[in-house]
Amino acid sequence: MADLETPEKLTVDLLAEIAGVSDLASLEAVRIRALGQNGVVTRLMKGLAALPPEERKAQGQANNAVKRAVSQAIETRKGALDAAALEARLAEERIDVTLPVRPEATGFIHPISQTMDELMAIFGEMGFTVAEGPDVEDDFHNFTALNIPEDHPARQMHDTFYLPSDGAGTAKLLRTHTSPVQIRTMMSTPPPYRIIAPGRTYRCDSDITHTPMFHQIEGLVIDKATHMGHLKGCLEDFCRAYFEVDDLPLRFRPSYFPFTEPSCEVDIGCARAGGELRIGAGDDWLEILGAGMVHPNVLVNCGLDPGVWQGFAFGLGIERVAMLKYGIPDLRTFFESDIRWLSHYGFAALDQPSLVGGLAR
Ligand code: DAH
Repeated sequence: MADLETPEKLTVDLLAEIAGVSDLASLEAVRIRALGQNGVVTRLMKGLAALPPEERKAQGQANNAVKRAVSQAIETRKGALDAAALEARLAEERIDVTLPVRPEATGFIHPISQTMDELMAIFGEMGFTVAEGPDVEDDFHNFTALNIPEDHPARQMHDTFYLPSDGAGTAKLLRTHTSPVQIRTMMSTPPPYRIIAPGRTYRCDSDITHTPMFHQIEGLVIDKATHMGHLKGCLEDFCRAYFEVDDLPLRFRPSYFPFTEPSCEVDIGCARAGGELRIGAGDDWLEILGAGMVHPNVLVNCGLDPGVWQGFAFGLGIERVAMLKYGIPDLRTFFESDIRWLSHYGFAALDQPSLVGGLAR
């Protein structure tokens, strides 16, 4: 019986027990049995009260010595068991850093975004800034101010999506081209301008070469002495940078747009052999963009004096130049959200677009 043991004997017994435990749970059990509320050491302390006063001091000191020795032994043993447990875990949980990592699903930059980035980088180098306009336009900005009045046959060239009328008889529409950004720019800020405006455009048209929504980039340069030579030089530099062909042949073919006079279409030299298209080689031509000197009526509509300010504008289809540069055969696939298509034609997400040309994969 513990109660009958001398403090010395009790100490020896408990220390032996503590030294003998091999895990933290057993150690805790010993602690409770010794120092807990009803533990043998605790009871020994409580027994002091029953002793005659002259014995209390000596017995008290002896009891304290037991308590101290036992507490200290438990602490020491606990430290040793903790360290051993950690060692065991470290040995067990070794990580093999030579194992190959699991492949992570990465996203890709859509060819439209990539192409827009490239276009902005090239024109940015030439001093152009980016302007924006709304997708939902009105008749004035999309047509009238661009010298396409109500009964103008050029309106039939655009298969316009009209929104429900607002009751006042002025139906809004989805812009059929990015040209209204020219008007918004000229009406909101004073010249000179050197802007590009990439964005979505809409036409009610759907077949292998048309989707109801597509993208264009518009360009506008207005200054006091801008002439057709600037237009040619600018578009030549642009086409050569974008297609990465230094001596790319260009052809400026007369054309008609209501908002430019004179107007032209720009073709680039190519070869078509055996179903393969090679840009910059051969003696064939490929139409790439529309351009011209901004029509005086357009300048007047925007409050600019055509006797002082002149300039040029251009517009091109982003899908079209993306398809040509990256060999994407079908326009409709751009908007089908097929992940396999994107992982084939998309671009790595983390690299910066280079000034000219695509990203190295
Ligand atoms: N807006 C024309 C279209 O969608 C493209 C265009 C042609 C824009 C000539 C221009 C331009 O700025 O000068 O077909």
